[in-house]
Amino acid sequence: MKITMIGTGYVGLVSGACFADFGHDVVCVDKDAGKIAAIESGRMPIYEPGLDQLVGSNAAAGRLTFTTDVAAGVKGADAIFIAVGTPSRRGDGHADLSYVYAAAREIVEALDAPAVIVTKSTVPVGTGDEVERIARELRPDLDIQVVSNPEFLREGAAIGDFKRPDRVVVGTTGSERAIAVMSQIYRPLSLNQAPLMFTGRRTAELIKYAANAFLATKITFINEMADLCEAVGAQVQDVARGIGLDNRIGSKFLHAGPGYGGSCFPKDTLALVKTGQDYDTPVRIVETVVQVNDLRKRAMGRKIVKALGGDARGRTVALLGLTFKPNTDDMRDAPSIAIVQALEDAGAKVVAYDPEGMAVAAPMMPGVTMVGDAYEAAQGADALVLVTEWDIFRALDLKRLAASMAQKVLVDLRNIYPAAEAAEAGFALTRVGSQV
Ligand code: UGA
Repeated sequence: MKITMIGTGYVGLVSGACFADFGHDVVCVDKDAGKIAAIESGRMPIYEPGLDQLVGSNAAAGRLTFTTDVAAGVKGADAIFIAVGTPSRRGDGHADLSYVYAAAREIVEALDAPAVIVTKSTVPVGTGDEVERIARELRPDLDIQVVSNPEFLREGAAIGDFKRPDRVVVGTTGSERAIAVMSQIYRPLSLNQAPLMFTGRRTAELIKYAANAFLATKITFINEMADLCEAVGAQVQDVARGIGLDNRIGSKFLHAGPGYGGSCFPKDTLALVKTGQDYDTPVRIVETVVQVNDLRKRAMGRKIVKALGGDARGRTVALLGLTFKPNTDDMRDAPSIAIVQALEDAGAKVVAYDPEGMAVAAPMMPGVTMVGDAYEAAQGADALVLVTEWDIFRALDLKRLAASMAQKVLVDLRNIYPAAEAAEAGFALTRVGSQV
């Protein structure tokens, strides 16, 4: 199959490289010439484990090429995927679809043969209808099918998620050609027995939002249980295990923490709320999830101040991890942003170390001193706070850290340090969802 991928952001670049690795002929298109030049010379625009090798080997094999020219990119393509950004629109939280529609127009104008246009970007229900309307209006002469194929990959595990998905969802309006093209594109996955689920286009669009909103709800539920555990003297990790062993609930996405962040859950939950309101069917449970999660991030700042005895003025707080989760340099909606703000508002000085996120984080938090590793961060600090559970923080020498600190206060917002080990190092430990 000849595939064109419009947009070399997270989803576009990973999907394009993986499709090429399946043996398809892939052209990735991006307007940003600097970005294309960087990728071609082996520098990835994002940090994602394994991506540079995957792009490099497929480019070397001639299956993966890059261009800034949409018209050249779409020539002869069986399917053109739209994988451009759909950020929250400033002011009202609706998904901003201007990039999707602009891409659709350019693709359609450049087409010289029937083709399938696939939206991979996360787009609200009805976006496929509008893309189809654009296609009919601009090129009534061509048979252009519009398909929805939402992406479920996670940052930091994107290549594995793409190649071994739990399912692939494809929404069509019933066109046999579209179904045949999509089946052919995903045929290599049948080896992994990944279910290829065909459904209506609007349904596929909604599945993406429903999945992310459900996962965000699961996290927010366990976070509220964590607060309750702290109040009543229970252990949230055991509550999570105790409910997660029930197959109907499942054990995943039940890790209590500082609240979800990233480029997807915050934006997608908000967009689903807006869609519900627009159709007069409010999704109240998700409205609440959005509010609870927003408040939680700043509340983590207050939790740290409390661990310091209630007064953070003139104290130094060392943060380990800034990105919204490990194995990424993505700082979008990271809990660390609200935590830093709350600590600075309380008069604390903040130092921080993150393995990949400091370059992106530094301009977002100009008052924070970025340092070279966890031990340097702890030096002279009054509190050490684990914000993001990078592997490198799991095997730290707690005794060495404690010995260099002004006050031995450890706040573990991801519950990775065993209480006994922290106590042995002399730390006063605060965790999420338990009193010890
Ligand atoms: C999420 C979904 O997991 C993907 O399926 C989806 O494709 C993607 O959004 C998307 O829409 O593009 P991602 O944002 O990369 O993926 O990261 P997750 O691993 O889902 O984590 C999201 C946030 O939830 C992080 O801040 C993480 O720390 C938090 N989280 C996750 C918890 O606090 N507890 C958990 O148990 C799990």
